Order: sequence, then C-alpha cells, then structure tokens
Amino acid sequence: MSASRTSRGRTAIIVGAQWGDEGKGKIVDVLTRTFSVVARYAGGHNAGHTVIVNGKKFIMQLVPGGILRPECTSVIGNGVVLDPLAFLKEVASLRAAGVKVDGNLFVSNRAQVILPYHRMMELGAENAPGRVKIGTTSRGIGPTYEDKMGRRGLRVADLLDSKLLRTHIENACREKNMIAHALFNADPLDADKMFREYADAAEQIRPFVRDTALLLNRALAEGKSIVFEGAQGTMLDIDHGTYPFVTSSNSTSGGAATGTGVPPTSIDTVIGISKAYCTRVGSGPFPTELLDAQGEDLRKRGNEFGAVTGRPRRTGWLDLPELRYAGMINGISWLVVTKLDVLDHLTEIPVCVGYKVDGKETDEAPAQAYGYEKIECVYCKMPGWASPTQAIRTLEALPKAAREYLAFIEKETGARVGMISTGPDREQTILVPEFVSELGLKNC
Ligand code: IMP
Repeated sequence: MSASRTSRGRTAIIVGAQWGDEGKGKIVDVLTRTFSVVARYAGGHNAGHTVIVNGKKFIMQLVPGGILRPECTSVIGNGVVLDPLAFLKEVASLRAAGVKVDGNLFVSNRAQVILPYHRMMELGAENAPGRVKIGTTSRGIGPTYEDKMGRRGLRVADLLDSKLLRTHIENACREKNMIAHALFNADPLDADKMFREYADAAEQIRPFVRDTALLLNRALAEGKSIVFEGAQGTMLDIDHGTYPFVTSSNSTSGGAATGTGVPPTSIDTVIGISKAYCTRVGSGPFPTELLDAQGEDLRKRGNEFGAVTGRPRRTGWLDLPELRYAGMINGISWLVVTKLDVLDHLTEIPVCVGYKVDGKETDEAPAQAYGYEKIECVYCKMPGWASPTQAIRTLEALPKAAREYLAFIEKETGARVGMISTGPDREQTILVPEFVSELGLKNC
C-alpha cells in the first residue's frame, strides 16, 4: 500500500514540454540540491544531458543527473533500455572525473538490454527503401522496445544469468541475422563473441543491479524525496507525439509511473521544461520551424547541435498551442523556461499563439504527421528586450520585456513559470520564490 502524502517523501516529474533537448539536465541538477533520489524512467542513451558545474561540462546519456551530487541516489528505472557497454563507458568517464558512482547508482533488474543486433536492425530499417526515415539516434532504442513488447527481450536480471544469456544471444542472433540478411543484406553478427563481451560486462554491472521499484517505494516510505527525470520530450512520446516521428517510449509524465514502479498516486508535481523558443532533431512535423537566416541565427546563438549525435538542431519560434498540449498531456503545473538569454539580441520576438486549419482556429494536435502540413501558425509579436540577461539571478533584475514574455507564456499556458535559466552554468538560474517553497527547495 502506498504511504500517504503526509508521511511519504515529496515527488516531482521533470518532463520535456517540446521535442527534447529543453535543458532538463540542468533543472534536475538544481532540484537535487534538495531531492534525495533521481530516477530515469524511459529512453536510453539516445538522450543527452549536459550539465555544467563550475565551468566543467558533463554529458550524460544514461546516468541520471543526480550523480553529480554525492549525497543523491541515482536510479535507472525499468522503463529505460540499457546498453551495457554504453553504461560502463559512462561510469568509467564519471569515475575518471572523480564522480562517486559506487553505492549511489542503481540499475533496475527489469530494464531491457540493448544488444548489437538491435543497432544492426535499426540501421537496416532506417536505410531500407520504402521505410519512413525517422532520423533516429541509431542507438538501437526502437528495436529494443520492439523486442520488449514482443516479449522476446533480454532484461538486466537475465543478463546476469550467464547460462540464460548464452542461450538468449544464440537464439536471437540466429533469428536477427537471418532477418537482417534477407531484408538488408547485412553481415551476420558473431553470437559467441557477443556472449563473451556481454558476459564480461554483466559482471561489471552486477553491483549496480537492484529491484529499483522496491528501492524507490521504500525510499518514499522513509520520507525521501524523488525527482523523476524524463528523457526526450512530449512531442517525441510514442503515443502523444508526432507519430511516427517519435521515440519508442512514453517520455510524457505517465511513463514515470510505469517506468519506475512508483504508483501515479504518489506523484505530487509535474514540471515541464521549455526553451524560450523551439528546437527539434531528426525528421517530422515542426510547425514554427525557421528555415531562413533567423533559424540559423538561433542555432548559432543557442549552440543547437545534438549532445549525442552532434547533428544540427532545427530551430523555430515558441509554439504555445504545442505547449498547451504538453500541459494537458503531462499535467504540468510549473514551467521552467530555459535559454532565455539566446533571445537577448532581438527587438521583436514572434510567438505562435494558435493554429489554423482550413482557415479555422483549432486547439487539436493532428493525429497524423501529415496533418501538420495543413497547419498555419498564427503569430503575435512580443517586444524584445535587446539587452543581456545572461547570468541574471532574480526576476526583478530581468528587463521589463523579458518579464512580460514570461508572463505571456504563463497566461497562454495556464502554468506558472517557476524557474528561468539564463545561462548554462548551475548558478545562472532564476528561482521564483513560490516554486522554491512549493518544492521545498533550498535557495542558492
Ligand atoms: P530514437 O529515440 O533514437 O529512436 O530516435 C527517434 C527520434 O527521437 C529521432 O527524431 C531522434 O532525433 C529523437 N530523439 C531521441 N532522443 C532525443 C533526445 O534526447 N533529444 C532530442 N531528440 C531525440
């Protein structure tokens, strides 16, 4: 039975309110000043979190942001797909940077394992004639979730069972090699070599493995607070995003419950993260996309290149119908606005306030990707502040036009802006007092 709110710890979900890369990593880092546990609930090493602490840059793909605070426990939940080699590489680089990972990082025994044939299948499918090109991160994420749903996946608990691992790899390689050869003319993978490599990785991963649903629910019952760290963003959610140009998991807040084993009744707050403008990587609909010099300018000023693949991100103006949709799907009560300083040079900022289809206003997000082609964005022009906001740490110190921009976002989305990021460093942050008190945050 779940503990009541009065006795259990506080919880908050951090969710990307756009197409990913909103700057969730930095927000998780700020929240872990107070929260005891950070749990990842979906995706895999397709995500890329950049956190800058005292000028030092950390890019994490699998390990939750809480790892940068030694007093915080980090959990990779059952909803995540784990590439054992990528995990060990990340652990090694964190250790080399002097970050403590032993005893405070745990991996779910129910998380699905990514194996080399998942990458082989993905690369083949992405390049196959007649297939919709999603522009994935080529990490094998989709095929691993396919195997999970097809009930033929390998879970971390099975990875640790050497006999089972061998049988699984032999059977799966036989099947995948045949399919990949027939469909994509791919070279076969060597099952024996794969087994040896992954059996060795399993022994290195063993100390991290736990029943993390139990760990998290116990932590809550002991009064510890948990932040659930979403990966990707609302519009990349497998159900609610711009299907099929999406990732293969539920990146929206609902995924936090199924992806960790913490019940929905134990969730207190959902915090949506949005850039002050919009970006997207990979193919698919993007109503406010800028394909001109202004888009290029945002890309340069915002350094909009993928943390994982280095791909240039597509850029565009803030899309309020999209943010309202994200608010509805996730139940966002607080918004965090990041990269406000990227707009500092503008004297006028276009913002999409509505969609029109066939001349009629609509609040409905199309269920079909091509439905977006019919959308005409209705823009309003907000006054820009044309002055530097970088590193500003109080709302009062922001230029009036910047405060008005934020107030407009609040009015149009119905969510409160609780935090604003004015630069990449941990300290380049504005925390709104009500947000600090509702979340029980320690002030900077
Ligand atoms: P996949 O997750 O590798 O299958 O890629 C599916 C889509 O999601 C592609 O358009 C990717 O570019 C996008 N995607 C996956 N992870 C991220 C992320 O962390 N940030 C932004 N886009 C992502």
